[in-house]
Amino acid sequence: MLAYSGGLDTSVLIKYLQEKYNAQVITVTVDVGQGEDLEAAEEKAKKLGVLKHFSIDAKDEFAKDYIFPAIKANALYEGKYPISTSLSRPLIAAKMVEIAEKEGATGLVHGCTGRGNDQVRFDVTLGALAPEIKIIAPVREWGLTREEEIAYAKTKGIPVSGSAKKYSIDASVWGRAIECGLLEDASQAPPEDAYEWTVAPEKAPDKPEIVTIAFDDGVPVAVKGKKMPPLALIEEVNKIAGRNGVGRIDHIEDRIVGLKSREVYECPAATVILEAHKDLEKMVMTRHEVLFKQQIDAQWVFLAYAGLWVDPLKDDLDAFINKSQENVTGEVKLKLYKGSLQVIGRSSPNSLYDKNLANYNIKTSFNQSYSKGFIELWGLQTRMYNSLKRASKKPKAKKA
Ligand code: ARG
Repeated sequence: MLAYSGGLDTSVLIKYLQEKYNAQVITVTVDVGQGEDLEAAEEKAKKLGVLKHFSIDAKDEFAKDYIFPAIKANALYEGKYPISTSLSRPLIAAKMVEIAEKEGATGLVHGCTGRGNDQVRFDVTLGALAPEIKIIAPVREWGLTREEEIAYAKTKGIPVSGSAKKYSIDASVWGRAIECGLLEDASQAPPEDAYEWTVAPEKAPDKPEIVTIAFDDGVPVAVKGKKMPPLALIEEVNKIAGRNGVGRIDHIEDRIVGLKSREVYECPAATVILEAHKDLEKMVMTRHEVLFKQQIDAQWVFLAYAGLWVDPLKDDLDAFINKSQENVTGEVKLKLYKGSLQVIGRSSPNSLYDKNLANYNIKTSFNQSYSKGFIELWGLQTRMYNSLKRASKKPKAKKA
């Protein structure tokens, strides 16, 4: 049972499994919004002689059960990457297991190399969900270079697309990852043709676009006043942000296996929605909640990135995060302009910001005279320490 994308690596794998293992291959393509033609993938698999093929549209489930939790957790790996690839792996693995068990498959095969993160995500999740089925990772075993792979594909009559020669691409509705080729020179700007979902900022419209996003219990529910289900909402924000050149990310990333890699992403919707969500949280949560949750969020995104989606700690953190979202309801207004993104307003029925309390001009119920005593206690230890330090620096009195 092979997780099949229709791309170069996994097409080569069909032939490889047939030749080397003398295997009957079942392929499954899981649609997480990668924007590939599912029917074309199915046709290609069948042409390569698979026993059976399954196409699964998991886009709604992906949006609701994987992306929405990531929004609640403000998930940005190393502060930059919205884990658009990472999130899809445990879902694909779960679908593989579901079908493999039904079909009685004896091996679970993925096309990941031994250098990346995806092997970790697949192996850990598959191994946790179906310990009785063998996992096979031929590309890792094989150690073919990309050029050798392309050459092999040609001898087997597997079509190689132009972009496959240039970049290695992985996409989900949450974003598009572009690797390899010219991008490996981290000192050079990514070529314009690496991008497909975002226009170059300098080619974006000369007028800013204002977007409001409404949240209910921590998840987005409406865009520009229009209520939308999860998947449609994300697709809509992808379009809006993409046409304004918002969401390009150039990142030096620490992979799970220790390598540093230069990664280029375009994640238009993720960039906008995460920025809006974070802003709204700050308006409705207490300072203690905001600061504590930052630590929980960091742990959550690390687990999700590092292939530990099914670790119980992630569930534990989800329990905290879900509870913390009960007040995260309201609206955030953002300005998108030639690649830049700014929150320019927010409102919430649960706001802890009170403009009357913070006002400089009128008498409010905030009693300034309390501040003096508060500061006295707040700085108590700091003053003690500094006075000791001063005393120890004074020249010692000479002995007679
Ligand atoms: N570095 C990213 C991650 O680990 C993206 C990987 C993209 N995969 C690919 N085959 N291009 O999540």
